[in-house]
Amino acid sequence: MTNEKRSSFTGKIGFVLAAAGSAVGLGNIWRFPYLAAKYGGGIFLLVYILLAVSFGFALMTAEIAIGRKTGLSAIGAFSALQKKYTFIGVLASVVPVIILPYYSVIGGWVTKYLYAFVTGGAVATAKDEYFDGFISQTTEPIIWFSVFIGITALIVLFGVEKGIEKVSKFMMPVLVALSFFIAIYSICMPGAWEGVKYYIMPDFSKFSATTVLAAMGQLFYSMSLAMGIMITYGSYMKKDVNLESSVTQIELFDTGIAFLAGMMIIPAVFVFSEGTPEALGKGPSLMFVTLPKVFETMAGGTYIGLIFFLLVLFAALTSSISLMETVVSIVCDKFKVNRKLACLLVFVFSVVLGLLSSLGYGVWSEVKIIGMQFLDFFDFISNSVLMPIVALLTCIFIGYVIKPKAVIEEVELNGKFKRKKLFEVVIKYIAPIFIVLILVSSVLDAFGKFSI
Ligand code: PFF
Repeated sequence: MTNEKRSSFTGKIGFVLAAAGSAVGLGNIWRFPYLAAKYGGGIFLLVYILLAVSFGFALMTAEIAIGRKTGLSAIGAFSALQKKYTFIGVLASVVPVIILPYYSVIGGWVTKYLYAFVTGGAVATAKDEYFDGFISQTTEPIIWFSVFIGITALIVLFGVEKGIEKVSKFMMPVLVALSFFIAIYSICMPGAWEGVKYYIMPDFSKFSATTVLAAMGQLFYSMSLAMGIMITYGSYMKKDVNLESSVTQIELFDTGIAFLAGMMIIPAVFVFSEGTPEALGKGPSLMFVTLPKVFETMAGGTYIGLIFFLLVLFAALTSSISLMETVVSIVCDKFKVNRKLACLLVFVFSVVLGLLSSLGYGVWSEVKIIGMQFLDFFDFISNSVLMPIVALLTCIFIGYVIKPKAVIEEVELNGKFKRKKLFEVVIKYIAPIFIVLILVSSVLDAFGKFSI
Protein backbone atom coordinates (compact mmCIF):
# COMPACT_ATOMS: atom_id res chain seq x y z
CA MET A 1 0.00 0.00 0.00
CA THR A 2 1.73 3.11 -1.11
CA ASN A 3 1.18 6.49 0.39
CA GLU A 4 -0.02 8.24 -2.73
CA LYS A 5 -2.82 5.71 -3.07
CA ARG A 6 -3.83 6.00 0.58
CA SER A 7 -7.31 7.42 0.62
CA SER A 8 -9.25 8.41 3.69
CA PHE A 9 -12.65 7.40 4.91
CA THR A 10 -15.13 10.19 4.40
CA GLY A 11 -15.93 10.57 8.06
CA LYS A 12 -16.61 8.81 11.27
CA ILE A 13 -19.50 6.76 9.95
CA GLY A 14 -17.46 5.67 6.95
CA PHE A 15 -14.63 4.55 9.19
CA VAL A 16 -16.80 2.78 11.74
CA LEU A 17 -18.75 0.94 9.05
CA ALA A 18 -15.66 -0.16 7.17
CA ALA A 19 -13.94 -1.41 10.31
CA ALA A 20 -17.16 -3.09 11.43
CA GLY A 21 -17.41 -4.72 7.99
CA SER A 22 -14.08 -6.37 8.62
CA ALA A 23 -14.87 -7.18 12.24
CA VAL A 24 -18.37 -8.57 11.83
CA GLY A 25 -18.28 -11.89 10.05
CA LEU A 26 -18.20 -15.60 10.63
CA GLY A 27 -16.34 -14.94 13.88
CA ASN A 28 -19.49 -13.45 15.37
CA ILE A 29 -22.14 -15.70 13.90
CA TRP A 30 -20.40 -19.04 13.51
CA ARG A 31 -17.48 -19.05 15.94
CA PHE A 32 -18.74 -17.16 19.00
CA PRO A 33 -21.84 -19.32 19.63
CA TYR A 34 -19.98 -22.63 19.39
CA LEU A 35 -17.27 -21.45 21.78
CA ALA A 36 -19.82 -20.04 24.22
CA ALA A 37 -21.75 -23.32 24.10
CA LYS A 38 -18.61 -25.37 24.60
CA TYR A 39 -16.95 -23.33 27.33
CA GLY A 40 -19.73 -23.08 29.85
CA GLY A 41 -22.22 -20.55 28.41
CA GLY A 42 -22.65 -17.67 30.87
CA ILE A 43 -19.14 -17.84 32.23
CA PHE A 44 -17.71 -17.57 28.71
CA LEU A 45 -20.00 -14.64 27.94
CA LEU A 46 -18.98 -12.85 31.13
CA VAL A 47 -15.25 -13.39 30.55
CA TYR A 48 -15.66 -12.28 26.95
CA ILE A 49 -17.40 -9.04 27.88
CA LEU A 50 -14.85 -8.25 30.59
CA LEU A 51 -12.04 -8.83 28.13
CA ALA A 52 -13.77 -6.75 25.45
CA VAL A 53 -14.07 -3.66 27.62
CA SER A 54 -10.50 -3.93 28.89
CA PHE A 55 -8.16 -5.76 26.47
CA GLY A 56 -10.28 -5.24 23.40
CA PHE A 57 -10.67 -1.56 24.08
CA ALA A 58 -6.98 -0.98 24.83
CA LEU A 59 -5.66 -2.99 21.93
CA MET A 60 -8.05 -1.61 19.36
CA THR A 61 -7.33 1.95 20.48
CA ALA A 62 -3.59 1.27 20.29
CA GLU A 63 -3.73 -0.33 16.83
CA ILE A 64 -5.92 2.32 15.25
CA ALA A 65 -3.83 5.07 16.85
CA ILE A 66 -0.49 3.79 15.57
CA GLY A 67 -2.02 3.27 12.14
CA ARG A 68 -3.32 6.81 12.04
CA LYS A 69 -0.14 8.25 13.55
CA THR A 70 2.14 6.67 10.95
CA GLY A 71 -0.26 6.48 8.02
CA LEU A 72 1.12 3.00 7.33
CA SER A 73 -0.02 -0.61 7.61
CA ALA A 74 1.40 -3.05 10.18
CA ILE A 75 4.95 -3.73 9.00
CA GLY A 76 5.59 -0.12 7.96
CA ALA A 77 3.98 1.25 11.10
CA PHE A 78 6.14 -0.70 13.54
CA SER A 79 9.20 0.01 11.47
CA ALA A 80 8.46 3.75 11.34
CA LEU A 81 8.00 3.91 15.10
CA GLN A 82 11.11 1.84 15.98
CA LYS A 83 13.02 0.03 13.27
CA LYS A 84 14.15 -2.75 15.61
CA TYR A 85 10.55 -3.77 16.24
CA THR A 86 9.53 -4.30 12.61
CA PHE A 87 9.30 -8.02 13.42
CA ILE A 88 6.08 -7.44 15.39
CA GLY A 89 4.46 -6.20 12.20
CA VAL A 90 5.85 -9.16 10.30
CA LEU A 91 4.52 -11.61 12.88
CA ALA A 92 1.12 -9.91 12.85
CA SER A 93 1.01 -10.27 9.07
CA VAL A 94 1.41 -14.04 9.28
CA VAL A 95 -1.97 -14.34 11.03
CA PRO A 96 -4.24 -13.39 8.10
CA VAL A 97 -2.21 -15.72 5.87
CA ILE A 98 -3.21 -18.63 8.11
CA ILE A 99 -6.80 -17.52 8.68
CA LEU A 100 -7.84 -16.73 5.09
CA PRO A 101 -7.77 -20.33 3.78
CA TYR A 102 -9.79 -21.94 6.53
CA TYR A 103 -12.10 -18.92 6.80
CA SER A 104 -12.93 -19.54 3.17
CA VAL A 105 -13.68 -23.20 3.84
CA ILE A 106 -16.35 -22.13 6.33
CA GLY A 107 -17.47 -19.44 3.86
CA GLY A 108 -17.92 -22.30 1.39
CA TRP A 109 -20.18 -24.13 3.85
CA VAL A 110 -22.34 -21.00 4.17
CA THR A 111 -22.53 -20.73 0.38
CA LYS A 112 -23.62 -24.37 0.15
CA TYR A 113 -26.38 -23.80 2.74
CA LEU A 114 -27.58 -20.74 0.88
CA TYR A 115 -27.70 -22.81 -2.30
CA ALA A 116 -29.64 -25.54 -0.49
CA PHE A 117 -32.21 -23.04 0.77
CA VAL A 118 -32.56 -21.46 -2.69
CA THR A 119 -33.05 -24.79 -4.43
CA GLY A 120 -35.64 -26.21 -2.07
CA GLY A 121 -33.31 -28.30 0.05
CA ALA A 122 -34.11 -26.51 3.32
CA VAL A 123 -35.87 -29.48 4.89
CA ALA A 124 -32.95 -31.78 4.16
CA THR A 125 -30.52 -29.42 5.91
CA ALA A 126 -32.47 -29.81 9.16
CA LYS A 127 -31.61 -33.52 9.34
CA ASP A 128 -28.96 -34.54 11.85
CA GLU A 129 -26.75 -36.31 9.33
CA TYR A 130 -26.88 -33.60 6.68
CA PHE A 131 -23.94 -31.52 7.83
CA ASP A 132 -21.56 -34.41 8.53
CA GLY A 133 -22.60 -36.04 5.29
CA PHE A 134 -21.73 -32.86 3.43
CA ILE A 135 -18.38 -31.99 4.98
CA SER A 136 -17.06 -35.53 4.88
CA GLN A 137 -17.36 -35.65 1.09
CA THR A 138 -14.31 -34.94 -0.98
CA THR A 139 -15.38 -32.83 -3.93
CA GLU A 140 -18.49 -30.91 -2.88
CA PRO A 141 -17.02 -28.94 0.03
CA ILE A 142 -13.98 -28.17 -2.14
CA ILE A 143 -16.20 -26.82 -4.90
CA TRP A 144 -18.04 -24.51 -2.48
CA PHE A 145 -14.81 -23.44 -0.86
CA SER A 146 -13.42 -22.58 -4.30
CA VAL A 147 -16.56 -20.61 -5.14
CA PHE A 148 -16.23 -18.57 -1.96
CA ILE A 149 -12.54 -17.84 -2.27
CA GLY A 150 -12.95 -17.29 -6.02
CA ILE A 151 -15.56 -14.57 -5.42
CA THR A 152 -13.31 -13.01 -2.78
CA ALA A 153 -10.34 -13.04 -5.14
CA LEU A 154 -12.34 -11.54 -8.02
CA ILE A 155 -13.59 -8.69 -5.85
CA VAL A 156 -10.07 -7.98 -4.59
CA LEU A 157 -8.66 -8.27 -8.11
CA PHE A 158 -11.11 -5.90 -9.72
CA GLY A 159 -11.08 -3.57 -6.73
CA VAL A 160 -14.85 -3.49 -6.45
CA GLU A 161 -14.83 -3.52 -2.66
CA LYS A 162 -16.55 -0.16 -2.72
CA GLY A 163 -19.57 -1.78 -4.35
CA ILE A 164 -19.59 -4.54 -1.79
CA GLU A 165 -19.27 -2.01 1.02
CA LYS A 166 -22.28 -0.13 -0.32
CA VAL A 167 -24.35 -3.29 -0.37
CA SER A 168 -23.19 -4.32 3.06
CA LYS A 169 -24.01 -0.92 4.53
CA PHE A 170 -27.57 -1.76 3.67
CA MET A 171 -27.34 -5.42 4.59
CA MET A 172 -25.74 -5.03 8.00
CA PRO A 173 -28.75 -3.36 9.59
CA VAL A 174 -30.98 -5.98 7.99
CA LEU A 175 -28.75 -8.67 9.50
CA VAL A 176 -29.14 -7.08 12.93
CA ALA A 177 -32.92 -6.88 12.58
CA LEU A 178 -33.22 -10.44 11.34
CA SER A 179 -30.93 -11.71 14.10
CA PHE A 180 -33.18 -10.05 16.67
CA PHE A 181 -36.18 -11.70 15.15
CA ILE A 182 -34.62 -15.17 15.02
CA ALA A 183 -33.20 -14.83 18.55
CA ILE A 184 -36.62 -13.89 19.93
CA TYR A 185 -38.21 -16.75 18.04
CA SER A 186 -35.57 -19.12 19.39
CA ILE A 187 -36.05 -18.17 23.03
CA CYS A 188 -39.81 -18.50 22.71
CA MET A 189 -39.62 -22.15 21.67
CA PRO A 190 -40.76 -24.58 24.36
CA GLY A 191 -37.76 -25.77 26.37
CA ALA A 192 -35.57 -22.87 25.30
CA TRP A 193 -35.48 -21.23 28.71
CA GLU A 194 -32.91 -23.68 30.08
CA GLY A 195 -30.68 -22.63 27.22
CA VAL A 196 -31.18 -18.93 27.89
CA LYS A 197 -30.17 -19.54 31.51
CA TYR A 198 -27.13 -21.52 30.42
CA TYR A 199 -26.08 -18.73 28.09
CA ILE A 200 -26.66 -15.80 30.40
CA MET A 201 -26.05 -16.98 33.94
CA PRO A 202 -22.39 -17.58 34.74
CA ASP A 203 -21.59 -20.88 36.41
CA PHE A 204 -18.28 -20.20 38.13
CA SER A 205 -17.51 -23.89 38.54
CA LYS A 206 -16.99 -24.00 34.77
CA PHE A 207 -14.27 -21.37 34.89
CA SER A 208 -10.80 -22.42 33.73
CA ALA A 209 -7.70 -21.05 32.02
CA THR A 210 -8.94 -22.59 28.79
CA THR A 211 -12.17 -20.58 29.04
CA VAL A 212 -10.15 -17.38 29.28
CA LEU A 213 -7.84 -18.34 26.45
CA ALA A 214 -10.73 -19.29 24.20
CA ALA A 215 -12.47 -16.00 25.00
CA MET A 216 -9.30 -14.04 24.41
CA GLY A 217 -8.56 -15.71 21.08
CA GLN A 218 -12.16 -15.12 20.07
CA LEU A 219 -11.92 -11.46 21.01
CA PHE A 220 -8.87 -10.91 18.81
CA TYR A 221 -10.38 -12.89 15.96
CA SER A 222 -13.76 -11.24 16.11
CA MET A 223 -12.47 -7.71 16.35
CA SER A 224 -9.74 -8.32 13.75
CA LEU A 225 -7.07 -7.47 16.36
CA ALA A 226 -3.47 -8.64 16.76
CA MET A 227 -3.09 -9.21 13.03
CA GLY A 228 -2.36 -5.76 11.73
CA ILE A 229 -5.79 -5.16 10.23
CA MET A 230 -6.86 -2.37 12.55
CA ILE A 231 -3.49 -0.67 12.05
CA THR A 232 -4.22 -0.55 8.33
CA TYR A 233 -7.73 0.74 8.94
CA GLY A 234 -6.33 3.36 11.31
CA SER A 235 -3.98 4.53 8.60
CA TYR A 236 -6.99 5.49 6.49
CA MET A 237 -8.71 7.33 9.33
CA LYS A 238 -8.85 11.11 9.20
CA LYS A 239 -7.26 13.10 11.97
CA ASP A 240 -10.47 14.90 12.89
CA VAL A 241 -12.46 11.75 13.64
CA ASN A 242 -12.91 10.92 17.32
CA LEU A 243 -10.87 7.78 17.85
CA GLU A 244 -12.12 6.73 21.24
CA SER A 245 -15.80 6.86 20.39
CA SER A 246 -15.18 5.07 17.08
CA VAL A 247 -13.56 2.22 19.03
CA THR A 248 -16.54 2.07 21.37
CA GLN A 249 -18.95 1.86 18.46
CA ILE A 250 -17.06 -0.88 16.64
CA GLU A 251 -16.85 -2.90 19.84
CA LEU A 252 -20.51 -2.48 20.62
CA PHE A 253 -21.54 -3.48 17.13
CA ASP A 254 -19.28 -6.50 17.04
CA THR A 255 -20.17 -7.77 20.50
CA GLY A 256 -23.87 -7.09 19.94
CA ILE A 257 -24.01 -9.30 16.85
CA ALA A 258 -22.04 -12.08 18.56
CA PHE A 259 -24.38 -11.94 21.55
CA LEU A 260 -27.43 -12.18 19.32
CA ALA A 261 -25.95 -15.09 17.39
CA GLY A 262 -25.49 -16.96 20.67
CA MET A 263 -29.08 -16.20 21.55
CA MET A 264 -30.26 -17.66 18.25
CA ILE A 265 -28.26 -20.84 18.56
CA ILE A 266 -27.69 -21.87 22.20
CA PRO A 267 -31.31 -21.99 23.40
CA ALA A 268 -32.11 -23.98 20.25
CA VAL A 269 -29.48 -26.56 21.24
CA PHE A 270 -31.50 -27.13 24.41
CA VAL A 271 -34.75 -27.40 22.46
CA PHE A 272 -33.51 -29.93 19.94
CA SER A 273 -30.84 -31.83 21.89
CA GLU A 274 -31.66 -31.07 25.52
CA GLY A 275 -28.35 -29.27 25.96
CA THR A 276 -26.33 -32.45 26.36
CA PRO A 277 -22.56 -31.97 26.65
CA GLU A 278 -22.10 -33.61 23.24
CA ALA A 279 -24.59 -31.25 21.62
CA LEU A 280 -23.05 -28.19 23.30
CA GLY A 281 -19.52 -29.29 22.49
CA LYS A 282 -20.20 -29.81 18.79
CA GLY A 283 -17.71 -27.15 17.78
CA PRO A 284 -17.51 -25.72 14.24
CA SER A 285 -20.65 -27.52 13.07
CA LEU A 286 -22.99 -26.06 15.71
CA MET A 287 -24.54 -23.24 13.68
CA PHE A 288 -25.01 -25.43 10.61
CA VAL A 289 -26.67 -28.20 12.55
CA THR A 290 -28.88 -26.08 14.79
CA LEU A 291 -30.21 -23.17 12.76
CA PRO A 292 -31.85 -25.18 9.96
CA LYS A 293 -33.87 -26.95 12.66
CA VAL A 294 -35.07 -23.57 13.96
CA PHE A 295 -36.04 -22.51 10.44
CA GLU A 296 -37.86 -25.78 9.88
CA THR A 297 -40.25 -25.08 12.75
CA MET A 298 -40.93 -21.50 11.62
CA ALA A 299 -43.77 -20.46 9.35
CA GLY A 300 -42.02 -19.30 6.17
CA GLY A 301 -38.78 -20.64 7.61
CA THR A 302 -37.35 -21.51 4.20
CA TYR A 303 -37.45 -17.85 3.17
CA ILE A 304 -36.17 -16.59 6.51
CA GLY A 305 -33.34 -19.14 6.34
CA LEU A 306 -32.55 -18.13 2.79
CA ILE A 307 -32.31 -14.45 3.69
CA PHE A 308 -30.32 -15.31 6.80
CA PHE A 309 -27.67 -17.32 4.95
CA LEU A 310 -27.48 -14.64 2.28
CA LEU A 311 -26.76 -12.00 4.92
CA VAL A 312 -24.20 -14.22 6.65
CA LEU A 313 -22.53 -14.77 3.30
CA PHE A 314 -22.25 -11.01 2.81
CA ALA A 315 -20.85 -10.50 6.30
CA ALA A 316 -18.36 -13.31 5.61
CA LEU A 317 -17.37 -11.78 2.27
CA THR A 318 -16.67 -8.32 3.68
CA SER A 319 -14.38 -10.02 6.20
CA SER A 320 -12.66 -12.35 3.75
CA ILE A 321 -12.09 -9.43 1.39
CA SER A 322 -10.34 -7.48 4.13
CA LEU A 323 -8.28 -10.57 4.96
CA MET A 324 -7.26 -11.11 1.36
CA GLU A 325 -6.57 -7.40 0.77
CA THR A 326 -4.15 -7.46 3.64
CA VAL A 327 -2.35 -10.55 2.45
CA VAL A 328 -2.21 -9.25 -1.15
CA SER A 329 -0.75 -5.92 -0.07
CA ILE A 330 1.88 -7.71 2.01
CA VAL A 331 2.84 -9.87 -0.98
CA CYS A 332 2.96 -6.80 -3.26
CA ASP A 333 5.25 -4.95 -0.85
CA LYS A 334 7.45 -7.86 0.10
CA PHE A 335 8.01 -9.52 -3.28
CA LYS A 336 7.63 -6.39 -5.38
CA VAL A 337 5.09 -7.99 -7.68
CA ASN A 338 2.04 -6.31 -9.19
CA ARG A 339 -1.42 -6.65 -7.71
CA LYS A 340 -2.67 -9.13 -10.30
CA LEU A 341 0.17 -11.55 -9.73
CA ALA A 342 -0.07 -11.08 -5.96
CA CYS A 343 -3.79 -11.91 -6.09
CA LEU A 344 -3.07 -15.03 -8.09
CA LEU A 345 -0.31 -16.16 -5.73
CA VAL A 346 -2.46 -15.60 -2.65
CA PHE A 347 -5.37 -17.37 -4.30
CA VAL A 348 -3.31 -20.45 -5.20
CA PHE A 349 -1.61 -20.60 -1.81
CA SER A 350 -4.95 -20.27 0.01
CA VAL A 351 -6.57 -22.95 -2.12
CA VAL A 352 -3.77 -25.38 -1.28
CA LEU A 353 -3.88 -24.64 2.44
CA GLY A 354 -7.68 -24.61 2.44
CA LEU A 355 -7.73 -28.04 0.80
CA LEU A 356 -6.06 -29.45 3.90
CA SER A 357 -8.77 -27.97 6.12
CA SER A 358 -11.53 -29.17 3.85
CA LEU A 359 -10.21 -32.70 3.40
CA GLY A 360 -9.41 -32.88 7.11
CA TYR A 361 -13.11 -33.47 7.70
CA GLY A 362 -13.30 -36.17 5.07
CA VAL A 363 -10.70 -38.51 3.65
CA TRP A 364 -7.97 -37.14 5.89
CA SER A 365 -9.95 -37.21 9.10
CA GLU A 366 -7.44 -39.66 10.55
CA VAL A 367 -4.61 -37.16 10.16
CA LYS A 368 -4.18 -35.25 13.40
CA ILE A 369 -1.68 -32.61 14.51
CA ILE A 370 -1.39 -32.41 18.29
CA GLY A 371 -4.74 -34.18 18.39
CA MET A 372 -6.48 -31.74 16.06
CA GLN A 373 -7.83 -31.84 12.54
CA PHE A 374 -6.25 -29.41 10.10
CA LEU A 375 -8.94 -26.75 10.41
CA ASP A 376 -8.92 -26.84 14.21
CA PHE A 377 -5.15 -26.81 14.17
CA PHE A 378 -4.92 -23.70 11.97
CA ASP A 379 -7.55 -22.08 14.14
CA PHE A 380 -5.59 -22.98 17.29
CA ILE A 381 -2.24 -21.77 15.97
CA SER A 382 -3.61 -18.41 14.86
CA ASN A 383 -6.07 -17.68 17.66
CA SER A 384 -4.53 -19.32 20.68
CA VAL A 385 -0.84 -18.97 19.92
CA LEU A 386 0.09 -16.30 17.37
CA MET A 387 -2.52 -13.69 18.20
CA PRO A 388 -1.84 -13.67 21.94
CA ILE A 389 1.90 -13.41 21.17
CA VAL A 390 1.35 -10.47 18.81
CA ALA A 391 -0.96 -8.85 21.36
CA LEU A 392 1.64 -9.32 24.08
CA LEU A 393 4.42 -7.84 21.95
CA THR A 394 2.20 -4.93 20.96
CA CYS A 395 1.45 -4.19 24.63
CA ILE A 396 5.14 -4.32 25.55
CA PHE A 397 6.04 -2.17 22.56
CA ILE A 398 3.51 0.48 23.47
CA GLY A 399 3.85 0.24 27.23
CA TYR A 400 7.62 0.27 27.41
CA VAL A 401 9.21 1.20 24.07
CA ILE A 402 7.26 4.05 22.52
CA LYS A 403 5.31 4.58 25.80
CA PRO A 404 1.52 4.94 26.14
CA LYS A 405 1.92 8.69 25.66
CA ALA A 406 2.46 8.14 21.95
CA VAL A 407 -1.02 6.61 21.66
CA ILE A 408 -2.64 8.98 24.14
CA GLU A 409 -1.46 12.03 22.17
CA GLU A 410 -2.95 10.58 19.00
CA VAL A 411 -6.30 9.91 20.70
CA GLU A 412 -6.32 13.37 22.25
CA LEU A 413 -6.01 15.06 18.87
CA ASN A 414 -9.76 15.33 19.01
CA GLY A 415 -11.12 15.61 22.46
CA LYS A 416 -10.54 14.15 25.86
CA PHE A 417 -9.39 10.53 26.22
CA LYS A 418 -11.97 9.42 28.75
CA ARG A 419 -10.53 6.02 29.57
CA LYS A 420 -6.89 7.11 29.53
CA LYS A 421 -6.05 5.58 32.92
CA LEU A 422 -7.72 2.30 32.05
CA PHE A 423 -5.83 2.23 28.76
CA GLU A 424 -2.46 2.79 30.45
CA VAL A 425 -2.96 0.23 33.19
CA VAL A 426 -4.22 -2.44 30.80
CA ILE A 427 -1.49 -1.93 28.20
CA LYS A 428 1.37 -1.73 30.69
CA TYR A 429 0.47 -4.22 33.38
CA ILE A 430 -2.75 -6.19 33.20
CA ALA A 431 -2.65 -7.38 29.60
CA PRO A 432 1.00 -8.49 29.45
CA ILE A 433 0.95 -10.45 32.72
CA PHE A 434 -2.35 -11.99 31.95
CA ILE A 435 -1.47 -13.01 28.40
CA VAL A 436 1.75 -14.69 29.52
CA LEU A 437 -0.09 -16.72 32.16
CA ILE A 438 -2.83 -17.79 29.84
CA LEU A 439 -0.55 -18.53 26.94
CA VAL A 440 1.78 -20.76 28.91
CA SER A 441 -0.97 -22.71 30.58
CA SER A 442 -2.92 -23.25 27.41
CA VAL A 443 -0.03 -24.30 25.24
CA LEU A 444 1.05 -26.81 27.86
CA ASP A 445 -2.54 -27.90 28.05
CA ALA A 446 -2.74 -28.47 24.31
CA PHE A 447 0.27 -30.71 24.51
CA GLY A 448 -1.45 -32.52 27.33
CA LYS A 449 1.28 -32.10 29.86
CA PHE A 450 -0.19 -29.74 32.36
CA SER A 451 -3.27 -27.70 33.03
CA ILE A 452 -4.58 -25.22 35.57
N1 PFF B 1 -13.26 -10.46 12.35
C1 PFF B 1 -13.70 -11.38 11.36
C2 PFF B 1 -14.84 -12.20 11.88
O1 PFF B 1 -15.19 -12.08 13.07
O2 PFF B 1 -15.41 -12.95 11.12
C3 PFF B 1 -12.60 -12.30 10.91
C4 PFF B 1 -11.50 -11.56 10.33
C5 PFF B 1 -11.73 -10.72 9.27
C6 PFF B 1 -10.29 -11.63 10.85
C7 PFF B 1 -10.73 -9.97 8.74
C8 PFF B 1 -9.28 -10.92 10.32
C9 PFF B 1 -9.53 -10.07 9.28
F1 PFF B 1 -8.57 -9.40 8.75
